[in-house]
Amino acid sequence: MARPKAPPLWIVDTAKQFSRKLTRFQRKLAPPSATLIELVSARWRPHAIFVLAQLEIADVLGDGPKDVGAIAKAVGADEGALYRVLRALAHDGLLTRPSPRTFGLTKVTDTLRSDHPRSVRQFVRMLMADYNSQSWARLTEAVKTGEPQFQELHQGRSLWQWIADEAPEAGELFHDSMKELTRLALPLFLATYDFCQYNKILDIGGGQGTLIAGILAHATEVTGGVLDLPQALEKAPEVLRATGVEARCELIEGNAFEAVPAGWDAYVLKNILHGLPDAPLSALLNNLRRQLTADAHLLVIEALVPSGPKGTHPSHLDLQMLIGAGGRERTVTEYRQLFADHGFTLKQVVRNAGIFALMVVVPVDS
Ligand SMILES: C[S@@+](CC[C@H](N)C(=O)[O-])C[C@H]1O[C@@H](n2cnc3c(N)ncnc32)[C@H](O)[C@@H]1O
Repeated sequence: MARPKAPPLWIVDTAKQFSRKLTRFQRKLAPPSATLIELVSARWRPHAIFVLAQLEIADVLGDGPKDVGAIAKAVGADEGALYRVLRALAHDGLLTRPSPRTFGLTKVTDTLRSDHPRSVRQFVRMLMADYNSQSWARLTEAVKTGEPQFQELHQGRSLWQWIADEAPEAGELFHDSMKELTRLALPLFLATYDFCQYNKILDIGGGQGTLIAGILAHATEVTGGVLDLPQALEKAPEVLRATGVEARCELIEGNAFEAVPAGWDAYVLKNILHGLPDAPLSALLNNLRRQLTADAHLLVIEALVPSGPKGTHPSHLDLQMLIGAGGRERTVTEYRQLFADHGFTLKQVVRNAGIFALMVVVPVDS
């Protein structure tokens, strides 16, 4: 099947560089203390955006602007308080305001609609969820101790253990939000990498199967699989059916830190390694090294920290890893070393216009 087209990387990089320069210039013009106050008070804005997502206000506004009274009635909110939130968002250019008490969606907030094909509603809700905010509130503690804070707050348990023990709704929200992010990035991977070269692709930690479903829909001769924890796979049959690839995709409940199956010629790890502390990270790579045949590929998809001042730095994602699971973002050089330490060679780095690069990794001496 023909590869989809994606925007050229240089245009995206240039636009981001320009935007950073503009921000620096604006900051030079403003009094330094005012700049800091503005930066810190920016934490209020996400809470207002969260209200749009949480109360499904974007869904109510899907067919056009409405009076605040009608919106409040539709979502069961206090009209006065809601008006103040919507007014603040309109002031930020995130809502239209055709008349003083009428508000509508902009292109940006339109993506908070649940049925938008590029919706990020669940991602916004996940990022703003209490458990995540509580870990972020302890960033200073993480900096003092070097320890991730999610575990500190949850009796030493990982996010996955906590979800399995007592928070299935948080798990569902997490996996829904990963589905949204993967859906956004998928066309970029399909445009820049040839998945048709494989016979069998296994996505380890593939959650609801969004990535493998997209790959299989494109690479129609390939069969696939998703290996993940049971609760992560709950909605996978639905996703595979909706894409029409259920007959070519196997769902495997398992713990990849204990074992991974042999017999696949490509193993995908998307946004897995960056979230792991050293011990499970090594266990996973060692399990893979034992199972990969000489001609099999490991496809690692992660954001890359640029080695120099240029490029997009996933610096805040890196902090999310610091406070959350105890993982980290890495440069290509750091990934190359990590793979070498576990018997692999980094063969190729495929960048695209998004923040996630695809690294092709092979067993040493293959
Ligand atoms: C950050 S999410 C990434 C999901 C998906 N790869 C993506 O990029 O959208 C991490 C995934 O690893 C899975 N996971 C966590 N521990 C695991 C384990 N021990 N074995 C297999 N999968 C695991 C989680 O359930 C989750 O789906």
